[in-house]
Amino acid sequence: MVAVAGFEVSPNLALNQLVDERRAAGERVVHLGFGEARLPVFAPLAERLAAGAHRNAYGPVAGGLDVREAVAGYFGRRRLPTDPGQVVVAPGSKPLLMALQLAVPGDVLLPRPAWNTYAPQARLAGKRAHGVPIPPECGGVPAPDALRETVRACREGGGTPGVVVLTLPDNPTGTLAPPELVREVCAIARAEDLMIVSDEIYRDVLHDPATPFLSPAEVAPERTVVTTGLSKSLALGGWRVGAARFPDGERGAALRDAVVSIASEVWSTLAGPMQEVAAYAFGEPPELREHLAACARLHGAVARAVHRIVVDAGAECRAPAGAFYVYPDFEPLRAPLAGRGVHDSDSLRRFLLDEFGIAVLAGHLLDDDGKALRFKAATSMLYGATREEQELALASADPVALPHIAAELAWLRESFGSLA
Ligand SMILES: Cc1ncc(COP(=O)(O)O)c(C=O)c1O
Repeated sequence: MVAVAGFEVSPNLALNQLVDERRAAGERVVHLGFGEARLPVFAPLAERLAAGAHRNAYGPVAGGLDVREAVAGYFGRRRLPTDPGQVVVAPGSKPLLMALQLAVPGDVLLPRPAWNTYAPQARLAGKRAHGVPIPPECGGVPAPDALRETVRACREGGGTPGVVVLTLPDNPTGTLAPPELVREVCAIARAEDLMIVSDEIYRDVLHDPATPFLSPAEVAPERTVVTTGLSKSLALGGWRVGAARFPDGERGAALRDAVVSIASEVWSTLAGPMQEVAAYAFGEPPELREHLAACARLHGAVARAVHRIVVDAGAECRAPAGAFYVYPDFEPLRAPLAGRGVHDSDSLRRFLLDEFGIAVLAGHLLDDDGKALRFKAATSMLYGATREEQELALASADPVALPHIAAELAWLRESFGSLA
């Protein structure tokens, strides 16, 4: 017997393993099932990492003052004036999100579908998670009426709704909630006394820098914790750098202290060399901003190309605005798909892999309705298998025309196009 039963390896990591096995057996697989930015390390970051090798002391649990000042500056440039005391850095935003689940009392309200880690983290923390359907226009936030209704039902059932998690921009839909919707959800959170965790790890991966972005921390500063990190915008998932910004004031300080206590017993602090990297990255010097803009342009170009392909194939799909995902719904093709043995998101996933070698993350693994014909496709997986191909994609004015990307897109167009 283990103390934590019923938990499996995260489904996206499990899918990775399956794809590796199929490739090792000689099969062609177009892998769209893993949310990784798939870009090389920006050279100055590697220099900072080497320069930080001398930082071998444990240091403060929340992170050194230099890195917390840099993170405070990062938020300050985004209309969120921040004192370094409000900041905690950690090895990735995942452990910060877990610590928040442990520290904030009450049940958790999640958009449905949502990133596949929020619900298991809630369960690990001994909480109940309630999925709330997303509105038609975007993901990452619960539809307001459904949120009110879920809070009411949760209370009636003896639960205590305590926190709502928002993802801006969103994984899995690749969309961004517009400001008026953020305001509406914040108003509900205030009326119902919910804390807000705003996961903004894709904020710097907005495809069009002119897209209006409103953080809940601007609207409901007293109750919003913002998390972010370098895994997505700078493709540094394996370096594990995350940060959280806590509310100013007593409530925020108490929550920060609780997270720092948890951190002190679990991960101690962000690795010293990574603090050197984080101080540079969150400081956002001009060359880094330029690099971020180039990455966001690439993510946008390829996500739009895949969106075009699935829509042309007959799927419904929200237009991507950020991150590197599309989340198509093949409901309009239910009849022809049924003729091929596809009736739900799991059989759709299996069919795409067996028939075309296309690996996607099925919607039910993201807490979506399993009967729906939806999946997440991570479009960043198309940038190339080698560092050279990825560099080429990043430098190209027209990345979707590069032969190695065009060939994969043509395969997707042909495969999805044959479904009708
Ligand atoms: C929405 C979202 N939040 C958080 C994370 C965790 O990122 P990290 O722990 O690398 O900061 C991910 C990574 O997949 C994500 O997609």
